[in-house]
Amino acid sequence: MALLLLLLLAIPALCAPQTLTPQHTTTPPQHWTPLSRAPPSHPLQLQIILHQPNISLLHSRLLAVSDPLHEEYGQHLTKSEVDDLAAPGEESVRAVEGWLRDAGLSHRAQRTRGGISLLLPVSEADPLLGAEYTLFQHLHTREGIARTLSYSLPPALHAHIRAIQPTTIFARPLAMHSPPRVRPLQVLANTLQTGDSDVTQPTCEPNVTPACLAQMYGTRGYTPAGDERLGITGYLGQNANLEDLQRFYQAFATDAQGSSFTTVLVNGGENNQTLSAAGTEANLDVQYSGALTFPLENIFYSTAGSPPFLPDPSEQENTNEPYAAWLEYMLGLEDQELPGVVSTSYGDDEQSVPEGYARAVCDQFAQLGARGVSLLFASGDAGVGPAENECYSNSDGRKMFVPDFPASCPWVTSVGATTGDPEIAASFSGGGFSNYFPRQEWQDSAVEAYLSTLNGSYAGMYNSSGRAYPDVSAQGQNYVVYVSGQPGLVDGTSCSTPTFASIILLLNDALQQQSKPRLGWLNPWLYGRGKAGVGDVSVGRNPGCGTAGFGAGRGWDPVTGLGTPRFGLLREVLGV
Ligand SMILES: *[C@@H]1O[C@H](CO)[C@@H](O)[C@H](O)[C@H]1NC(C)=O
Ligand SMILES: *[C@@H]1O[C@H](CO)[C@@H](O)[C@H](O)[C@H]1NC(C)=O
Ligand SMILES: *[C@@H]1O[C@H](CO)[C@@H](O)[C@H](O)[C@H]1NC(C)=O
Ligand SMILES: *[C@@H]1O[C@H](CO)[C@@H](O)[C@H](O)[C@H]1NC(C)=O
Repeated sequence: MALLLLLLLAIPALCAPQTLTPQHTTTPPQHWTPLSRAPPSHPLQLQIILHQPNISLLHSRLLAVSDPLHEEYGQHLTKSEVDDLAAPGEESVRAVEGWLRDAGLSHRAQRTRGGISLLLPVSEADPLLGAEYTLFQHLHTREGIARTLSYSLPPALHAHIRAIQPTTIFARPLAMHSPPRVRPLQVLANTLQTGDSDVTQPTCEPNVTPACLAQMYGTRGYTPAGDERLGITGYLGQNANLEDLQRFYQAFATDAQGSSFTTVLVNGGENNQTLSAAGTEANLDVQYSGALTFPLENIFYSTAGSPPFLPDPSEQENTNEPYAAWLEYMLGLEDQELPGVVSTSYGDDEQSVPEGYARAVCDQFAQLGARGVSLLFASGDAGVGPAENECYSNSDGRKMFVPDFPASCPWVTSVGATTGDPEIAASFSGGGFSNYFPRQEWQDSAVEAYLSTLNGSYAGMYNSSGRAYPDVSAQGQNYVVYVSGQPGLVDGTSCSTPTFASIILLLNDALQQQSKPRLGWLNPWLYGRGKAGVGDVSVGRNPGCGTAGFGAGRGWDPVTGLGTPRFGLLREVLGV
């Protein structure tokens, strides 16, 4: 009897295979060459992100609590308030669960905050999604990934599903620094001089150290006293080495010697302490934020995921999409567990992230912002874009500057790079305009003032109605770091981001001393009162795409944003 019932239940699915209609289709992306069909056994951890009926309500609450002119300013939402506003609709959950049940995949499915996670091999994902998972190899880096150029859903599900990834996403989190390994120190003069934090005028030339940043940005002599915490994200197996940290402290931050960061391993991440396995990005991030914010706690979140590899049938690792795993972890933390500031020095071309998925991820950043977390992201290291022959739109082939994601998400604060003293723009400083996210009101006057100075140059190369970035900047060239026991130099918005994030953390500390709320999502405040607390950088350009790029100018510009931090002025603005 039971068997008969089971057979009867199975019949509709067997008799009438559902027609599928495309949910997302992409053209073969730049730099990736298809090699062959993906191995049938290759595992995929699919994230099905469901429709969130009240997400626009979350956006308006976030705007309200982050706007200093609003009566709700600083009244950040609790986890349960955010969870309610961001919850997937019940109807959508039922529809998708029913679909997976009919496909016999319920046992592979798991509820997540944003929807459903589904672990299945390519051989089952292909028919379920009308997909054709293929191995693609990157032309320059030789990395490989299994992706499909389109995927489809039963028509009735389109309204319920925002995105399913990894399907058509070709982005990976790239560390925003160069060179990949540190370059040798050329000049030791100021480096040795600033090694002693008692020296009177540490300078950021020729090399940058924590002492010169503290001098330049005005945090020198400020002693944090509260329990605010800074989060640092690590991806792609980047290890933050404890021994290197102590060498760095011994040379450049003697106060902090013996202290360390807390490591949190997300989703099976690791932090391999073999000296030769130290990561330049991770070391840079923990060394500078640790020195600049001592004695406040820094948390290094290492999220699992190797650099994309060429899967072979015996390979059981999956090409998980890493932001999803980190966000799932963070959004599940209780309010008192969340750090107030998080620095992320990773990103990739906006157009390598499908728009629906970029929006869904950006909305997850919004959830953290609503709970009072300031998210700082590197603006990218390729100016307005890479080489001229790589600056075109994947979708229609037109010539264009190439914006970066997550820097282009309006709910994060994007950090560009400067160099020298007095500061000028670093030529690699990523900046531009999103093609996905419209500009929000808090940016209007600053950005329109800049656009009017362009006199129409580059028309059609950038989206003048898009979210403009970076928002701010900080020194990003010639940072001294220790990697695998040796000091060396690195450049990048990867340097600028933990520096700016550290200063926001110190501001949160000063606010905490007076029982005032954290800064949370920074942008409406920054473009309003906050801009009185930054130093304008108006010289330099960010060339790319065979052009001279945008020019820095008075006020906001798409090279250095509003400018670099002035801690004393920022405290005055905040009245702390
Ligand atoms: C969305 O908001 C409406 C009205 O505020 C509420 O009735 C509904 O339960 C909310 N939906 C979810 C999924 O929270
Ligand atoms: C740590 O890294 C080293 C050097 O790359 C490697 O030999 C070792 O197997 C790694 N350890 C673990 C536990 O992965
Ligand atoms: C420009 O940005 C707007 C607002 O985000 C968007 O609607 C539009 O599609 C974008 N245009 C192009 C060509 O990408
Ligand atoms: C735009 O025109 C003004 C006035 O002629 C000039 O000063 C400025 O340099 C021009 N800007 C650009 C980017 O060409």
